[in-house]
Amino acid sequence: MPGFEIFGDEERKQVNDVLESGILMRYGFEGLRNNHWKAKEFEIAFAKRMQSNHCQLVSSGTSALTTALASAGIGAGDEVIMPVFTFVASFESILMLGAIPVLVDIDDTLTLDPNAVEAAITSKTKCVMPVHMCGSMADLNALQSICEKHNLLLLEDACQALGGTYQGKPLGSIGDLGCFSFDFVKTITCGEGGAIITNNDKFSKNADQYQDHGHDHIGSDRGAETHPNMGYNFRISELHAAVGIAQLEKLDEILAIQKRNYTIIRKVLETIKGVSFRKVPEGGEENYSFLSFFLPTEEMTKNAIAMLSEANVEANFYWYTNNWHYINGWEHMKNLKSLGLLTDEVKTQLKKLNDTDFSKSDAVMCRTISSLIKIGWTDTQVEDRANKMKKAIESVL
Ligand SMILES: Cc1ncc(COP(=O)(O)O)c(C=O)c1O
Repeated sequence: MPGFEIFGDEERKQVNDVLESGILMRYGFEGLRNNHWKAKEFEIAFAKRMQSNHCQLVSSGTSALTTALASAGIGAGDEVIMPVFTFVASFESILMLGAIPVLVDIDDTLTLDPNAVEAAITSKTKCVMPVHMCGSMADLNALQSICEKHNLLLLEDACQALGGTYQGKPLGSIGDLGCFSFDFVKTITCGEGGAIITNNDKFSKNADQYQDHGHDHIGSDRGAETHPNMGYNFRISELHAAVGIAQLEKLDEILAIQKRNYTIIRKVLETIKGVSFRKVPEGGEENYSFLSFFLPTEEMTKNAIAMLSEANVEANFYWYTNNWHYINGWEHMKNLKSLGLLTDEVKTQLKKLNDTDFSKSDAVMCRTISSLIKIGWTDTQVEDRANKMKKAIESVL
C-alpha cells in the first residue's frame, strides 16, 4: 500500500533530525533534544489536516482504539457494537478493557448495517464502532441518529480510510472519536503508529494521560508529575513520529494517484455485465485505496479469484475466506482461546457468535472482491491490469 511505496529523502531527513539529537522519546530531555518535538509536531499537523481540535498519537491503530474507548470511559461489562467484517483489532481493543464486543451484520457498504446496529442495542450498550473498511465508509448519518437517540458514543475506526470524506468532512472526524493506523501497509505509514482525533477536550486529556501511564504531562520534571488516573504505555517514539511528518505531507498526492488509478480500472470493470460495485453512502468519497466489487454468485466470485491469480493479477482479496478480516476466520475468538481468564459476561457473548445468523453478511461477503490500488503503477500498467481483470472476470460469468 502507498505509504511505503514512496518512502524517500523526506522521511530520512526527519529521522536524521531525531538521530542527531539522540532523543528518541517524545517526552522530557528538553536541554538535549535540539528543539525537536516530532510527535507533537505530527499531532498538530494531523489534527489540522483532519479538521479536529485534538490529535493524540499512539503506538498502533489497535492501541488507538483501546485508548479512545478508555478515554471515553468504556470499561468492564460495557457493550460495544462492531461489524463482522473488520480487522481483529476491533474486538481485541474492546476485550482488552474487559468490555464486550457485540458483532453485527454489514450491508452492501461493506460496513455496519444501521438496522443491525439498532436491533443489537441493550441497556449495556455504550458505543457504536463503525469500521470504514477498504477506503469507504458506513452510513454515518444513520449511525449518528441512532447514537443520538440512544445516547451512545460513535467511534469511527478509520484505520483503512485515511483521506476519505463524508459530506465534506474527513472520515474519523465525524464521530465523538476517530482512530487511525500508520502501520506498514496503511495509506501513510510510520512503520508502526496510530492516532486518535476528537473535538472533546475531556476525551483528549484522558487519552493523553492514558497512553503514558496516567502522567498528567504538567511541568518539565517527568518524575514529579502526578497520575490522575491509571494508564498504560502506548506511546509513539520520536523516530516513528518523524517518519509520519514526512508521510503526511505526501497524503494529498497519494490520494490523487489512488483516485486516478482506481478510476481507470473501475471504468473498464463497469463495462462488464454482472459486475456491481460497493455502495458508497450519499455524500461520501472513498480514499480509493481499494476497488471493491460484487459478482452475481459465490461460485463465480471464487472462480474469478482463481482466474485473476492464474493471470498473475496480484492483490485481489477474497475476504470471505481470509482469516484476518471476516468472522468466518475468527475461530480463536469464538472458541474463547484467551491466554488469560475472560469474564463470564464476555464468554457468554462470544459463545453466542457460534449460533448467530450472519447469513445477510455472508451473502455480501461471499460475492465481494477487493482489488488493491497501488500508486507506483504506470498508466500502461494500470490499463494492462484493468484489461487482464476484465478478461479473467468475463471468463467466469
Ligand atoms: C480496520 C483496522 N482497524 C485497526 C487496525 C489496527 O491497526 P494496527 O495494525 O496499527 O494496530 C487495522 C490494521 O490493519 C485495521 O485494518
